[in-house]
Amino acid sequence: MPRLDPHSYFDSDQPRTRRLDLDLAIEFDRRRVTGQVTLTLDRPSAGPLDLDSKGLAITSVRTTLGRPIVWEPGPEEPILGTRLRLTLPPGTEGVVITYETGHDAIGLQWLAPEQTAGRRHPFMFTQFQPIHARSMIPCQDSPMVRATYHAAVTVPEALTAVMSAGPEGAPVASEAGMRTMFFEMPQAIPSYLIALAVGDLACRELSRRARVWAEPATVEAAAWEFAGVEDMIVRAEQLFGPYEWDRYDMLVLPPSFPYGGMENPRMTFLTPTLLAGDRSLVDVVAHELAHSWTGNLVTNATMDHFWLNEGFTVWAERRILEALHGEAASAASWALGQTALAEAIARFGADSPFTVLRTHLEGVDPDDVYSSVPYEKGSLFVALLERTVGRERFDLFLRAYIQRFHFTSITTEELMAFLEQQLPGVAARVGAEEWLGKPGLPANAPVFRSASLEAPTSLAEGWAKGARPSAEQLATWSHIELLIYLQHLPRQLDAASCRWLDETLKLTARGNYEILVEWLTIAAASDYEPVFGRVREVLVKVGRMKYLRPLYGALGKHPRTRQLGRDIFAAAAPTYHALSRRVVESVMEKYDG
Ligand code: BES
Ligand code: ZN
Repeated sequence: MPRLDPHSYFDSDQPRTRRLDLDLAIEFDRRRVTGQVTLTLDRPSAGPLDLDSKGLAITSVRTTLGRPIVWEPGPEEPILGTRLRLTLPPGTEGVVITYETGHDAIGLQWLAPEQTAGRRHPFMFTQFQPIHARSMIPCQDSPMVRATYHAAVTVPEALTAVMSAGPEGAPVASEAGMRTMFFEMPQAIPSYLIALAVGDLACRELSRRARVWAEPATVEAAAWEFAGVEDMIVRAEQLFGPYEWDRYDMLVLPPSFPYGGMENPRMTFLTPTLLAGDRSLVDVVAHELAHSWTGNLVTNATMDHFWLNEGFTVWAERRILEALHGEAASAASWALGQTALAEAIARFGADSPFTVLRTHLEGVDPDDVYSSVPYEKGSLFVALLERTVGRERFDLFLRAYIQRFHFTSITTEELMAFLEQQLPGVAARVGAEEWLGKPGLPANAPVFRSASLEAPTSLAEGWAKGARPSAEQLATWSHIELLIYLQHLPRQLDAASCRWLDETLKLTARGNYEILVEWLTIAAASDYEPVFGRVREVLVKVGRMKYLRPLYGALGKHPRTRQLGRDIFAAAAPTYHALSRRVVESVMEKYDG
């Protein structure tokens, strides 16, 4: 009866899954995953067991002893999918479900060879956060449930599978042209952290516990870009306690990956847009690594507490940056965050419920309200707590928090009860109720100043009055200073201004996607024709939602760029992840309005 997660049919009165055994075949020609999962329960049980599923075709449900189980699918619900109600015979210790995935399973993306760097082999990957594991695995798909897992994954013999787990033993040849690879994840994780990718993959060692995986054509660049990861792990351990996941491996995906990074334990997934060639975008790795503590050890109980994952992780990411590169670097990152937050609050409206930290998302698709708010407002709240009690006491609190809750999934209320116990009175002093429960940004939000960002900010804000950076100034700017400059420029400029910017700053040729996309967004919104080819190139290749949203938005500003946007989308849509497609469609709906 008590269903505590608005995005899952998981019922906390029923037995919980404590282990999954997956035996799956990856069928590239049919774009389907077929096989079976065994769910081992935390106690011998009888009666109803409700599972989440989305688009799955179930062929059989039995107990681990082979007895048939009566089961019934509920109606298909647009956000949650279909409830599978199993009725367990007495003494059931586990269930075995045989099934195959639906033809547009939202948690999977299938890539044609042309969408990969090598252009010879197909590729597939999963993205299960927030609620998409159910489209590949019938399970209790709520972060309140944690389980270990084992997997046997059968793939074409030329391809390699990686998972958010450790490899276990050598692959074995199975049927003709196929091989089976084995994985074991001995630590209990929520279903959204199960991850799989299959493609033509190679790897490079970065340290005794870190390696990077990528297609052969990209793996050298990836190894160079992320060579500093061991330093990051060491710093993070000094700050947050021992790294508990044994290995920290990374996988660089093809460019359609819809996110910058995903913290799949033991195998962070990363967008190839991070390969700037100058290590300027490795803060995303610091972020995903920080999730190894905040998010993966201590997990949000439901998406209503998502800020616990992301707010603490953004704060932790900036502490790692500060330890590695000093206070100026972290201050710059805080400044970028403040701009992103102001934009998000403006987009939703300052009294929108989606600007609240502790949300109530019953009936709301979490993908539709994904924004910087839980990240940036959340991290400001953590920074405020840190400032209020002082860094030393706060760091002790944070370590105690991780130790107290590691390998559990918690609510905002559980965090606050622990805070009150450890640091009595602090919540009241900072106005925690307003921070957590009210929309907009509270007046006591910490402000981060960074002297080095004042020049680019004021030069950009003085653009209309003719202010321009000198060649000497430009020569000293880091990529962050340049990015801050671009962010503060007017959103639309005349052609002469666009030409001046591009000639002076060589923007269209940049390999740093943050800078490139910021520039192309201004230029596209300015109807500046010389960049149209580059805009098309980026949009056809890259599916990262963070970049699609502003670029397609900018193309909506003028009639001929609107047409360009529609043409590009018509060509690119079949290669986008379904989530990316949805984002672009929602942006384009506003074209006609
Ligand atoms: N866990 C998130 C990605 C995510 C969140 C996927 C919610 C699906 C639902 C990941 O850690 C993340 O935050 N990625 C960011 C990068 C980061 C540096 C802010 C991204 O992808 O942009
Ligand atoms: Zn994150």
